[in-house]
Parts: sequence; C-alpha cells; structure tokens
Amino acid sequence: TNKIKIGVAGLGTVGAGVLKIINAHGELLQARTGTRLEVTAVSGRDRNKDRGVPIEGLAWYDNAADMAKDPDVDVVLELIGGSDGVAKDLCVSALTLGKHVVTANKALLAIHGTELAELAEKHGVSLAYEAAVAGGIPIVKALREGLAGNAISRVYGILNGTCNYILTEMEETGGEFDNILQDAQKLGYAEADPSFDVDGVDTAHKLAILTSLAFGTPVDFNSVYIEGIRDVTAADIAAAQEFGYRIKLLGVSRRTDKGIEQRVHPCMVRTDTAIANVSGVFNAVVADGDFVDSTVYVGRGAGEGPTASAVVADIVDIAIGRHSATFGIPVEEMSPLPMAS
Ligand code: NDP
Ligand code: HSE
Repeated sequence: TNKIKIGVAGLGTVGAGVLKIINAHGELLQARTGTRLEVTAVSGRDRNKDRGVPIEGLAWYDNAADMAKDPDVDVVLELIGGSDGVAKDLCVSALTLGKHVVTANKALLAIHGTELAELAEKHGVSLAYEAAVAGGIPIVKALREGLAGNAISRVYGILNGTCNYILTEMEETGGEFDNILQDAQKLGYAEADPSFDVDGVDTAHKLAILTSLAFGTPVDFNSVYIEGIRDVTAADIAAAQEFGYRIKLLGVSRRTDKGIEQRVHPCMVRTDTAIANVSGVFNAVVADGDFVDSTVYVGRGAGEGPTASAVVADIVDIAIGRHSATFGIPVEEMSPLPMAS
C-alpha cells in the first residue's frame, strides 16, 4: 500500500482535531486516496499535556522546525499560528526540503503568502490552506476550481466565527460582549490573541487571501481597510433590528475601475438576505462571477471539527497528487488599491 507520512506541528484545537479525523476515518481516507495516511511525528510546547487523543509512539519535537527534517515526514501540517517565528520557520524549512505543507494559518499567509507560494513552486510541492479561510467551508477550492470559468467581480462575507458568535449572542441573549468573547474562547473559536478577532484583523487576513484567489493579485494585507466590532453596542443592534437589519462584520473585496478595493467593517444587512440569517459561529461567503451569477457558501467558520475537516481535505489532495496553483492566476493587470478610509 502507498503511505504518506504526516508530521503535525501544533496540537491545540485544530491539531488534535486532525488527529481525531485520521484516527476515525483511516479506512475511508485510504479507500478515497489509495494511500494510507499515517501520522509519524508531532510537535507542541508541552509534551505531557492531555490532547484528548493518543500521541504515544509518535516522534516528538520540541522545536517544530526540526520536524521538517525528519525523513519519516513527507507532509508537514503547520497548526501553530502566528505570522512569523516558529510557524514561518517550519514552513520555510519544510518547503525548502521539498516537503508539502498544509496550514490553517491565515495570519502567516496574509503577510508571507506570496513568498511562501513561490518557495513551494520552486521546490515543486504544495502549500495548501483550505482551513485558513472560513473554517469548514471549502471556499478556496470553490474559488480556485469551481468558479474557474468566471471573471469574479466581488467576493465578500462573514469570515470570522468569533465575531459572528458575539454579534448573534448579543442580539439573541442580550449578553455582555466580554462574557460572550470568553465563551467563544472556551469553545476554541478565538485566536490566541482575541483582539485579532474583535478588531477585524483576522477577517482582513482571510479577505487578503480571498482577494488573491478571486482576482489573481498578490496577497496584499496592508491594503485592507479594517474596523472591528468593539464599538458595536446592544443599542446599535436593537436599532438595526427595528429597521429590518442585522449587524454583521463583513470582509468585502470588489473590482473597481481603479483596482481591487478591500475593506472590513460592521455592516447593516437586510434581514431578508441569506447572509443576515447566518448565525453564531457560522460563516458565509458570497462570490459573484460573470457567468455563474451570485453563489453563496455557508458553514461553520471555526472550531475543532470544521477546521480539521478542511485540513484533512488538503492532505487528501496531496495524497492523490492533486496540485493546483497556490494563489490566483493573474488574468489581467490589476492590483489592490491602497487602503481606503
Ligand atoms: P491553539 O492555541 O489551540 O493551538 C496551538 C498549538 O500550537 C498548541 O498545541 C501549542 O502547544 C502549539 N505551539 C505553540 N507554540 C509552539 C511552538 N513554538 N512549537 C510547537 N508547537 C507550538 O490554536 P488553534 O488550534 O486554535 O489554531 C492553530 C492555527 O489554526 C492558527 O494559525 C489559527 O489561526 C488557525 N485556525 C484556527 C481555527 C480555530 O477555530 N481554532 C480555525 C481556522 C484556523 P501546547 O498545546 O503544548 O501549548
Ligand atoms: N478565530 C477564527 C474565527 C478562527 O473566529 O473565525 C477561524 O479562522
């Protein structure tokens, strides 16, 4: 039997979730790929922590970047987080050694995505990141493959589960922002630094990736206008409701005559639209193409199972040799506009 040997760096919400899927669906995955997916190595900070999943018998690395050098690792999963430091070192090391990388790390890709993609291309390996945008929704594959016959005019949506959870709970239970954020952290939705969620930065990271996929432009996080949900009050939500609207944090990327405009801010969305009825940790992405018209994708945007599901989809792609361009293919001379105000 063919075998693919996997090293998992980061054993938190997402990493442990991936181990659980591979344990639960080993036979199904083998039937689908013709390859046995075998986890051979893991890396974390605390070797003795209970992960809710067995890691005995697997090689352990205190230094994640060393894991890339293990000859018993063909595919590296970077599930640590952070736009620099150990996560980046691990990806660079693995790609340079000609090993495939799967990551859920949108912060890393928003800042260094183009550079890492070039490295992957140079070494003929995959840099796969389905989990980095909108959790369990296969939006990377939808944009890159499903809508490949279209010129995209606009892509937008609810891209942060934590913020949508907070806004929904504020509306439905009248709870306090800080308490609801703590619940989102306990549920494994929030970033290590939750200000990335509530200040719109995480949405902007994901939007920068979507823009690149949709329009074939380099990933350009610095051009995104960003405003989060910290200033949204219960009174704002109630006033919006009275007029038939809900408040949603949206990331919007659209083609204009001058270039691609990227912005993140709370929006009033009419309650009779699909996106207004996407609640809790669910995300939604709308992509408008010239031939397909408007398409909408909905699913859980954060949390263990949905995110791990997307990571495993990328491993399956690698196992069956399905490699595609990492970011969008440029189709015309266009670039993101400088930050709007
Ligand atoms: P967690 O904080 O739950 O897990 C992070 C893991 O990284 C921990 O196991 C930690 O080890 C490990 N780690 C930290 N520093 C190091 C290091 N220097 N070397 C090796 N391992 C290290 O994060 P998540 O699982 O939530 O997120 C992981 C990534 O996935 C991030 O990039 C995040 O943005 C992204 N993501 C998360 C989603 C979610 O819903 N949670 C959804 C989509 C993407 P230890 O456990 O020993 O402390
Ligand atoms: N913190 C992120 C969110 C995780 O809440 O959407 C998923 O990317």
